[in-house]
Amino acid sequence: MAKKAEADAPGIAILGGTGDQGLGLALRFARAGAKVVIGSRKPERALEAAERVGAAVAGAKVEGCGNAEAAQQAGIVILSVPFEHTAETVKAIRTALAPGQIVVSMGVPLATALGDSAVRTVGVWQGSCAELVAELVPDGVEVVSAFQNVSAHRLQALEEPVECDVVVSGAKAARGRVMALCALVPGLRAIDGGPLANARIVEAITALLIGLNIRYKLPAGAGIRFTGLPNP
Ligand SMILES: NC(=O)c1ccc[n+]([C@@H]2O[C@H](COP(=O)([O-])OP(=O)(O)OC[C@H]3O[C@@H](n4cnc5c(N)ncnc54)[C@H](OP(=O)(O)O)[C@@H]3O)[C@@H](O)[C@H]2O)c1
Repeated sequence: MAKKAEADAPGIAILGGTGDQGLGLALRFARAGAKVVIGSRKPERALEAAERVGAAVAGAKVEGCGNAEAAQQAGIVILSVPFEHTAETVKAIRTALAPGQIVVSMGVPLATALGDSAVRTVGVWQGSCAELVAELVPDGVEVVSAFQNVSAHRLQALEEPVECDVVVSGAKAARGRVMALCALVPGLRAIDGGPLANARIVEAITALLIGLNIRYKLPAGAGIRFTGLPNP
Protein backbone atom coordinates (compact mmCIF):
# COMPACT_ATOMS: atom_id res chain seq x y z
CA MET A 1 0.00 0.00 0.00
CA ALA A 2 1.21 3.52 -0.78
CA LYS A 3 2.56 5.73 2.00
CA LYS A 4 -0.05 8.18 3.33
CA ALA A 5 0.22 11.88 2.68
CA GLU A 6 0.99 14.59 5.21
CA ALA A 7 -2.28 16.54 5.24
CA ASP A 8 -0.63 19.83 6.11
CA ALA A 9 2.41 19.38 3.86
CA PRO A 10 3.24 22.67 2.20
CA GLY A 11 2.99 22.91 -1.53
CA ILE A 12 0.70 21.97 -4.33
CA ALA A 13 0.62 18.69 -6.25
CA ILE A 14 -0.76 18.78 -9.80
CA LEU A 15 -1.71 15.33 -11.11
CA GLY A 16 -1.60 15.34 -14.92
CA GLY A 17 0.47 18.51 -14.62
CA THR A 18 2.15 17.45 -17.86
CA GLY A 19 -0.86 18.76 -19.83
CA ASP A 20 -1.66 22.33 -20.85
CA GLN A 21 -3.78 23.37 -17.89
CA GLY A 22 -1.73 21.70 -15.17
CA LEU A 23 1.52 23.02 -16.60
CA GLY A 24 0.02 26.53 -16.70
CA LEU A 25 -0.91 26.32 -13.02
CA ALA A 26 2.50 24.87 -12.19
CA LEU A 27 4.23 27.80 -13.90
CA ARG A 28 2.09 30.35 -12.09
CA PHE A 29 2.37 28.80 -8.63
CA ALA A 30 6.13 28.28 -9.07
CA ARG A 31 6.54 31.89 -10.08
CA ALA A 32 4.74 32.89 -6.87
CA GLY A 33 7.37 30.92 -4.91
CA ALA A 34 5.15 27.96 -3.95
CA LYS A 35 6.51 24.42 -3.89
CA VAL A 36 4.99 22.51 -6.82
CA VAL A 37 5.02 18.76 -7.40
CA ILE A 38 4.01 17.68 -10.90
CA GLY A 39 2.49 14.22 -11.17
CA SER A 40 2.14 11.97 -14.18
CA ARG A 41 1.35 8.34 -14.94
CA LYS A 42 4.92 8.29 -16.24
CA PRO A 43 7.47 9.82 -13.84
CA GLU A 44 9.80 10.72 -16.72
CA ARG A 45 7.06 12.90 -18.26
CA ALA A 46 6.59 14.65 -14.92
CA LEU A 47 10.34 15.26 -14.67
CA GLU A 48 10.31 16.74 -18.18
CA ALA A 49 7.45 19.07 -17.23
CA ALA A 50 9.26 20.07 -14.02
CA GLU A 51 12.33 20.91 -16.11
CA ARG A 52 10.18 23.14 -18.33
CA VAL A 53 8.91 24.99 -15.27
CA GLY A 54 12.45 25.29 -13.91
CA ALA A 55 13.65 26.71 -17.23
CA ALA A 56 10.85 29.30 -17.32
CA VAL A 57 10.90 30.36 -13.66
CA ALA A 58 14.23 31.20 -12.03
CA GLY A 59 14.55 29.55 -8.61
CA ALA A 60 11.37 27.47 -9.06
CA LYS A 61 10.76 24.91 -6.30
CA VAL A 62 9.41 22.19 -8.56
CA GLU A 63 9.64 18.40 -8.68
CA GLY A 64 8.21 15.71 -10.95
CA CYS A 65 7.20 12.14 -10.07
CA GLY A 66 4.42 9.57 -10.39
CA ASN A 67 0.86 10.68 -9.53
CA ALA A 68 0.61 8.75 -6.25
CA GLU A 69 3.98 9.97 -5.03
CA ALA A 70 3.04 13.55 -5.96
CA ALA A 71 -0.24 13.23 -4.06
CA GLN A 72 1.68 12.24 -0.93
CA GLN A 73 3.83 15.33 -1.02
CA ALA A 74 1.35 18.18 -0.76
CA GLY A 75 -1.57 19.30 1.35
CA ILE A 76 -3.45 20.40 -1.77
CA VAL A 77 -3.73 18.04 -4.75
CA ILE A 78 -5.09 19.41 -8.03
CA LEU A 79 -6.58 16.91 -10.49
CA SER A 80 -5.64 18.04 -13.98
CA VAL A 81 -6.73 15.16 -16.19
CA PRO A 82 -9.53 14.99 -18.78
CA PHE A 83 -12.97 14.33 -17.23
CA GLU A 84 -13.22 10.85 -18.72
CA HIS A 85 -10.03 9.79 -16.91
CA THR A 86 -10.94 11.38 -13.57
CA ALA A 87 -12.38 8.33 -11.84
CA GLU A 88 -9.52 6.01 -12.81
CA THR A 89 -6.96 8.62 -11.74
CA VAL A 90 -8.55 9.11 -8.30
CA LYS A 91 -8.92 5.36 -7.78
CA ALA A 92 -5.24 4.90 -8.67
CA ILE A 93 -4.05 7.36 -5.99
CA ARG A 94 -6.75 7.14 -3.30
CA THR A 95 -4.68 4.99 -0.91
CA ALA A 96 -2.01 7.69 -0.98
CA LEU A 97 -4.45 10.35 0.29
CA ALA A 98 -4.85 11.15 3.98
CA PRO A 99 -7.56 12.91 6.04
CA GLY A 100 -7.14 16.67 6.05
CA GLN A 101 -5.83 16.81 2.51
CA ILE A 102 -7.69 18.80 -0.12
CA VAL A 103 -8.31 17.49 -3.63
CA VAL A 104 -9.17 20.18 -6.17
CA SER A 105 -11.45 19.16 -9.03
CA MET A 106 -10.86 21.22 -12.18
CA GLY A 107 -12.44 18.76 -14.63
CA VAL A 108 -15.31 19.59 -16.94
CA PRO A 109 -17.61 16.83 -18.25
CA LEU A 110 -17.32 18.00 -21.86
CA ALA A 111 -19.24 15.92 -24.38
CA THR A 112 -15.90 15.18 -26.07
CA ALA A 113 -15.76 12.37 -23.48
CA LEU A 114 -18.36 10.64 -25.71
CA GLY A 115 -16.88 11.77 -29.01
CA ASP A 116 -19.32 14.72 -29.19
CA SER A 117 -18.58 18.47 -29.09
CA ALA A 118 -16.61 20.53 -26.52
CA VAL A 119 -19.30 23.25 -26.56
CA ARG A 120 -21.67 21.17 -24.44
CA THR A 121 -21.46 18.96 -21.37
CA VAL A 122 -22.80 15.52 -20.57
CA GLY A 123 -24.76 14.62 -17.45
CA VAL A 124 -22.87 13.12 -14.52
CA TRP A 125 -24.91 10.94 -12.16
CA GLN A 126 -23.46 12.68 -9.07
CA GLY A 127 -24.25 16.13 -10.56
CA SER A 128 -20.76 17.29 -11.53
CA CYS A 129 -17.19 16.12 -11.97
CA ALA A 130 -16.36 17.59 -8.54
CA GLU A 131 -19.15 15.61 -6.85
CA LEU A 132 -17.97 12.45 -8.62
CA VAL A 133 -14.50 13.04 -7.15
CA ALA A 134 -16.02 13.65 -3.71
CA GLU A 135 -17.63 10.22 -3.87
CA LEU A 136 -14.27 8.57 -4.63
CA VAL A 137 -11.86 10.13 -2.12
CA PRO A 138 -11.32 8.55 1.33
CA ASP A 139 -13.21 9.88 4.36
CA GLY A 140 -11.71 13.07 5.74
CA VAL A 141 -10.34 14.27 2.40
CA GLU A 142 -12.14 17.44 1.27
CA VAL A 143 -12.95 18.09 -2.37
CA VAL A 144 -13.02 21.65 -3.67
CA SER A 145 -14.06 22.75 -7.16
CA ALA A 146 -11.99 25.51 -8.83
CA PHE A 147 -10.12 26.77 -11.92
CA GLN A 148 -12.50 25.30 -14.55
CA ASN A 149 -13.07 28.67 -16.26
CA VAL A 150 -9.40 29.66 -16.55
CA SER A 151 -7.70 29.31 -19.94
CA ALA A 152 -4.52 27.22 -20.15
CA HIS A 153 -3.15 29.61 -22.75
CA ARG A 154 -3.53 32.58 -20.40
CA LEU A 155 -2.00 30.67 -17.51
CA GLN A 156 1.05 29.88 -19.61
CA ALA A 157 1.48 33.50 -20.80
CA LEU A 158 3.54 34.26 -17.70
CA GLU A 159 4.17 37.91 -18.44
CA GLU A 160 0.44 38.78 -18.62
CA PRO A 161 -2.14 38.82 -15.82
CA VAL A 162 -4.68 36.01 -16.30
CA GLU A 163 -7.79 38.23 -15.83
CA CYS A 164 -10.35 35.69 -14.72
CA ASP A 165 -12.58 35.09 -11.70
CA VAL A 166 -12.31 31.63 -10.13
CA VAL A 167 -15.46 30.33 -8.47
CA VAL A 168 -14.34 28.12 -5.57
CA SER A 169 -16.88 25.70 -4.11
CA GLY A 170 -16.71 23.15 -1.31
CA ALA A 171 -16.65 22.91 2.49
CA LYS A 172 -15.88 26.29 4.05
CA ALA A 173 -12.40 25.80 5.53
CA ALA A 174 -11.10 23.86 2.53
CA ARG A 175 -12.58 26.33 0.09
CA GLY A 176 -10.80 29.13 1.96
CA ARG A 177 -7.45 27.38 1.48
CA VAL A 178 -8.05 27.04 -2.26
CA MET A 179 -9.27 30.65 -2.54
CA ALA A 180 -5.91 31.66 -1.06
CA LEU A 181 -4.14 29.91 -3.97
CA CYS A 182 -5.83 32.27 -6.45
CA ALA A 183 -4.12 35.21 -4.80
CA LEU A 184 -0.78 33.73 -5.93
CA VAL A 185 -1.63 34.36 -9.60
CA PRO A 186 -1.81 37.92 -10.96
CA GLY A 187 -5.26 38.61 -12.40
CA LEU A 188 -7.04 35.66 -10.77
CA ARG A 189 -9.76 36.63 -8.28
CA ALA A 190 -11.28 34.00 -6.01
CA ILE A 191 -15.07 34.07 -5.69
CA ASP A 192 -16.72 32.29 -2.76
CA GLY A 193 -18.80 29.74 -4.65
CA GLY A 194 -20.47 28.13 -1.63
CA PRO A 195 -21.23 24.40 -1.52
CA LEU A 196 -19.64 21.84 -3.83
CA ALA A 197 -22.90 21.29 -5.76
CA ASN A 198 -22.42 24.72 -7.36
CA ALA A 199 -19.66 23.05 -9.41
CA ARG A 200 -22.53 21.94 -11.68
CA ILE A 201 -22.99 25.55 -12.78
CA VAL A 202 -19.29 26.40 -12.96
CA GLU A 203 -18.35 23.34 -15.02
CA ALA A 204 -21.09 24.12 -17.56
CA ILE A 205 -19.75 27.67 -18.00
CA THR A 206 -16.54 26.20 -19.45
CA ALA A 207 -18.49 24.68 -22.34
CA LEU A 208 -20.04 28.10 -22.95
CA LEU A 209 -16.57 29.71 -22.90
CA ILE A 210 -15.29 27.19 -25.46
CA GLY A 211 -18.21 28.16 -27.73
CA LEU A 212 -17.33 31.85 -27.26
CA ASN A 213 -13.70 31.10 -28.15
CA ILE A 214 -14.89 29.58 -31.42
CA ARG A 215 -17.49 32.23 -32.36
CA TYR A 216 -15.28 35.20 -31.43
CA LYS A 217 -12.03 33.55 -32.66
CA LEU A 218 -10.17 33.86 -29.31
CA PRO A 219 -7.10 31.58 -29.37
CA ALA A 220 -6.03 32.87 -25.91
CA GLY A 221 -9.42 31.94 -24.45
CA ALA A 222 -12.23 33.95 -22.84
CA GLY A 223 -12.66 34.14 -19.06
CA ILE A 224 -15.33 35.34 -16.61
CA ARG A 225 -15.71 38.36 -14.31
CA PHE A 226 -18.50 38.96 -11.77
CA THR A 227 -19.57 42.54 -11.08
CA GLY A 228 -21.06 44.12 -7.98
CA LEU A 229 -19.07 42.07 -5.47
CA PRO A 230 -17.15 43.81 -2.65
CA ASN A 231 -13.40 44.08 -3.05
CA PRO A 232 -11.59 41.22 -1.28
N1 LIG B 1 -6.93 23.25 -21.33
C1 LIG B 1 -7.69 24.22 -20.83
O1 LIG B 1 -7.68 25.39 -21.31
C2 LIG B 1 -8.59 23.95 -19.65
C3 LIG B 1 -9.36 25.01 -19.14
C4 LIG B 1 -10.16 24.77 -18.02
C5 LIG B 1 -10.22 23.52 -17.45
N2 LIG B 1 -9.48 22.50 -17.99
C6 LIG B 1 -9.57 21.19 -17.34
O2 LIG B 1 -8.29 20.86 -16.83
C7 LIG B 1 -8.06 19.46 -16.96
C8 LIG B 1 -6.76 19.25 -17.72
O3 LIG B 1 -6.89 19.84 -19.00
P1 LIG B 1 -5.69 19.72 -20.07
O4 LIG B 1 -6.11 20.52 -21.24
O5 LIG B 1 -4.38 20.00 -19.43
O6 LIG B 1 -5.80 18.16 -20.42
P2 LIG B 1 -4.84 17.22 -21.28
O7 LIG B 1 -3.62 17.99 -21.68
O8 LIG B 1 -5.64 16.57 -22.33
O9 LIG B 1 -4.46 16.08 -20.23
C9 LIG B 1 -3.80 16.38 -19.01
C10 LIG B 1 -3.06 15.16 -18.54
O10 LIG B 1 -3.96 14.10 -18.23
C11 LIG B 1 -3.22 12.91 -18.27
N3 LIG B 1 -3.99 11.87 -18.97
C12 LIG B 1 -4.25 11.76 -20.27
N4 LIG B 1 -4.91 10.62 -20.54
C13 LIG B 1 -5.06 9.99 -19.36
C14 LIG B 1 -5.61 8.74 -18.99
N5 LIG B 1 -6.12 7.89 -19.88
N6 LIG B 1 -5.58 8.41 -17.68
C15 LIG B 1 -5.02 9.23 -16.77
N7 LIG B 1 -4.45 10.42 -17.09
C16 LIG B 1 -4.47 10.79 -18.37
C17 LIG B 1 -1.93 13.16 -19.05
O11 LIG B 1 -0.87 13.12 -18.12
P3 LIG B 1 0.21 11.92 -18.11
O12 LIG B 1 0.21 11.26 -19.46
O13 LIG B 1 1.47 12.65 -17.85
O14 LIG B 1 -0.21 11.03 -17.00
C18 LIG B 1 -2.14 14.56 -19.58
O15 LIG B 1 -0.93 15.29 -19.71
C19 LIG B 1 -9.28 18.88 -17.70
O16 LIG B 1 -10.14 18.30 -16.76
C20 LIG B 1 -9.91 20.09 -18.34
O17 LIG B 1 -11.32 19.97 -18.44
C21 LIG B 1 -8.67 22.69 -19.07
